[in-house]
Amino acid sequence: MTTRRLVLLIALIVVIAGGAWFTYVEFFREAPAPYFASDEDHFLFGSIGTEAEQGVPYWIWLVLPRVFPDHLPRPGGYAALGMPGKDGQEMPVGFSKVTVGFPRVGINCAMCHTATFRTRPDAVPTIVPAGPSHQTGEQEYLRFLFACASDPRFTADTILGEIAKNTRLSLVDRLVYRFVIVPQTRRAILQLRDRDAWMDARTDWGRGRIDPFNPVKFSILKQPVDQTIGNSDMEPVWNLARHTGYAFHWDGLNDTLQEVVLSSALGDGATMKWVDRDFAKWNATDPRSMSSLRRIQNFISQVQPPAYPFPIDQTLAAQGAAVFQSECAPCHGPGGARTGKVIPLAEIGTDRHRLDMWTPASAAAYNAYGAGHAWQFSHFRTGGGYVAVPLDGLWLRAPYLHNGSVPTLTDLLEASSARPRSFWRGYDVYDPSRVGFITTGPDAEREGTAYDTTQPGNSPQGHEYGTTLSSDAKRALIEYLKTL
Ligand code: HEC
Ligand code: HEC
Repeated sequence: MTTRRLVLLIALIVVIAGGAWFTYVEFFREAPAPYFASDEDHFLFGSIGTEAEQGVPYWIWLVLPRVFPDHLPRPGGYAALGMPGKDGQEMPVGFSKVTVGFPRVGINCAMCHTATFRTRPDAVPTIVPAGPSHQTGEQEYLRFLFACASDPRFTADTILGEIAKNTRLSLVDRLVYRFVIVPQTRRAILQLRDRDAWMDARTDWGRGRIDPFNPVKFSILKQPVDQTIGNSDMEPVWNLARHTGYAFHWDGLNDTLQEVVLSSALGDGATMKWVDRDFAKWNATDPRSMSSLRRIQNFISQVQPPAYPFPIDQTLAAQGAAVFQSECAPCHGPGGARTGKVIPLAEIGTDRHRLDMWTPASAAAYNAYGAGHAWQFSHFRTGGGYVAVPLDGLWLRAPYLHNGSVPTLTDLLEASSARPRSFWRGYDVYDPSRVGFITTGPDAEREGTAYDTTQPGNSPQGHEYGTTLSSDAKRALIEYLKTL
């Protein structure tokens, strides 16, 4: 080989290696996720591994609400979608930020498991980690991203111009954003839009609800797209150590907390590779090196629901305790014979859509999904009914039932034919007179989404327990329910 050829060859190797190194650093190198000292902040802002594949590039995510305010329901950025901010934290609750090549934004458990409430319209919202996110518009968030990516204004010029108002990207980063990241993000979001097109033919989720398992069925488990509607109300995830032995999820499709935690992360977009790595640290005890999901499981096992924030008439509540004992305790009391167990649909009589969504084939596919992995699932199943859920923190679980079809406890104790036909979900000001959120009036309409009980999956039928009690007994029972 001549010297000239050798020099050329070496140069070529250097270029290829440099290119590979550049590609690795710019696109794939994973920095450690930011560490949060408190378990609560870890729950609210920590990573569950959703950034690498499902993450939105941070700088793009940051400027989208400014470039496309017209695709949001009202001004206020992501807060307009019911995603609250916490003082001193950069990201809104439910979003994590991790660098995989470039900083990316993923979602975490708090997106759907953190409630806010106000005792008066002019109060600052109280954030309740592990409460149900009744105020969050998860489908609206997805549709906002879809609308942005479909918009002809989604160009490198516009986006980079807006990013420049926040930061000075290096020349190399600007080039990478212009020619790779911006166009690739647009393509990826449009692909997601097409993948999720099945949503559009079905009842909207609205605030505080998602269809949690159809995306898992169709995308992860590769089941054929069917016509089912799995819309369900967000559940709280507090006090779970006390729910040991109970069935989890509205239809009791799994009774093992570890499997529910891991499958939730996978369902939200964590990669298998990330879950493998995280699970390898499951038994570590130092919070800095322990599994992220284990830390979350510990947190939700222990964290307690907040007390009812208005005065309670204790004498009346004591009378109500007796009513509860005879009418409700067998299914809902701690230690009740049926508490945390599945009640057959024929008996409970509530809307059946959510139940029909999860089939024996889906359960079998989820149990087979992790074959060969240390965390492989084995407890997925079908339930045949809905779980008699524990009622801890009940006041903040409104609207009620698995499809969130009944706005307040007062309404739930009315015969199902007399429950509201339509109302608004998502407004977080509490109504102590009916015990639930305010669901009518201009403020509820401005901040929430309409709920129409005649839409498939939205029926408030069934669960007629307590509806024939005297009005005095109902008043006492509701007073007691505030203490749970
Ligand atoms: C996009 C919204 C969303 C995200 C994100 C999410 N969940 Fe959930 N979660 C739900 C909904 C909705 C339900 C009720 C679903 C059903 O059964 O229909 C639920 C149910 C649960 C339950 C069962 C509670 C009970 O008492 O039965 C647990 C436990 C849980 N989630 C844990 C988690 C964990 C841990 C994470 C993060 C790794 C997570 N979830 C992320 C929406 C979400
Ligand atoms: C036979 C068992 C059974 C009895 C008795 C019963 N419930 Fe229930 N309850 C259930 C089941 C099952 C669900 C879930 C049904 C669904 O969401 O479709 C439920 C759900 C609820 C919910 C909604 C919880 C939430 O987070 O949305 C409330 C509130 C409730 N019950 C209160 C009561 C009260 C009060 C009584 C007594 C007057 C009572 N229940 C009697 C089985 C029972």
